[in-house]
Amino acid sequence: MHIPQTSPAQKFMTLERHIIEGERSHPDATGEFSALLHGLSLAAKLVWREVSKAGLVNMQGSTKRVNVTGDVVKKLDEFADETIYKAMDHVGHLCVMASEENEDLLQIPKQYPSGKYVLLYDPLDGSSNIDANITVGSIFSIFQRVTESGNGTLEDVLQCGLKQIGAGYVLYSSSMMFIYSTGQGAHGFTLDPTVGEFLLSHENIRIPKQGSIYSVNEGNFNRWDPNMQRYVQYLKEDDKETGRPYSSRYIGSLVGDVHRTLLYGGIYCYPGDTKNPDGKLRLMYENNPLAFIVEAAGGAASNGKGRILEIQPETLHQRSPLFIGSADDVRLAEEFLAGKRT
Ligand code: AHG
Ligand code: MN
Ligand code: MN
Repeated sequence: MHIPQTSPAQKFMTLERHIIEGERSHPDATGEFSALLHGLSLAAKLVWREVSKAGLVNMQGSTKRVNVTGDVVKKLDEFADETIYKAMDHVGHLCVMASEENEDLLQIPKQYPSGKYVLLYDPLDGSSNIDANITVGSIFSIFQRVTESGNGTLEDVLQCGLKQIGAGYVLYSSSMMFIYSTGQGAHGFTLDPTVGEFLLSHENIRIPKQGSIYSVNEGNFNRWDPNMQRYVQYLKEDDKETGRPYSSRYIGSLVGDVHRTLLYGGIYCYPGDTKNPDGKLRLMYENNPLAFIVEAAGGAASNGKGRILEIQPETLHQRSPLFIGSADDVRLAEEFLAGKRT
């Protein structure tokens, strides 16, 4: 029988097959992790179904609520939050969950079995863009519990990013993508809506060592530390040798801005400023999972002084500045922020 040569896309490498084959290389893997990612991919499709028709089914606009970090809660924030929780609460492999949209830990309902993993998630990232039909996403982070048994506790959740077992994000954009890493490379899957499967489209993503795009909200320029101002001014100077000036790209959806940075190279910055010394982004729900993925792709992620993944979290919703992207770009930003460059 003639077996034709197949391209990656034709290999029909589904997300599920990729996870199971990846698990085989982990001797102590028991299939629980693939069950978790399967649940998350289902939740992502359910959220996508609403996001892709938000304007038609009155899913745009805001609720009357403000969340624990002071953001107005959009209707889709709430829908995505509930959808992910309900898709995951019964899989039997979690001892606790935590969401950007909920002040306290989310326990597993008594009627369901619990397990050894912990799930944290930003159910909808970039939600201020929903009403303008601009790319949004979901972000997730998975740890192994550290307490012996019973309901998961803050001790199980407040672990430094290096301890993540896996992390990923979903992009709701012109196509829908699911990107994840278990520490061995970062892999991208694109939804084929005709079969409802995520197919491998970006195998083992490698971020360029240096890029030529910077991504930051320059509206905050006057509140930045002078070293941060000097860094962005430096990127704008004309110097062919060092590939400057960089281009500026900022869509105001962290997942979209970081995904472009992961594929094209460069740097995304959300620095602290005089109004918000720790910046706006949440360590546990945004910075840790994205740092895990970008480092797995050969990049770097810093709070301006040191590795995001080495920060020992103290509270569930703490913020941290974020400089993430090409290794050389992040290192240069750190040098400017330390006053070592002018
Ligand atoms: P979220 O919608 O989960 O609150 O995240 C919004 C974040 C992030 O997506 C984006 O990069 C950033 O907020 C934009 O903030 P500014 O509007 O201050 O630039
Ligand atoms: Mn977010
Ligand atoms: Mn969010």
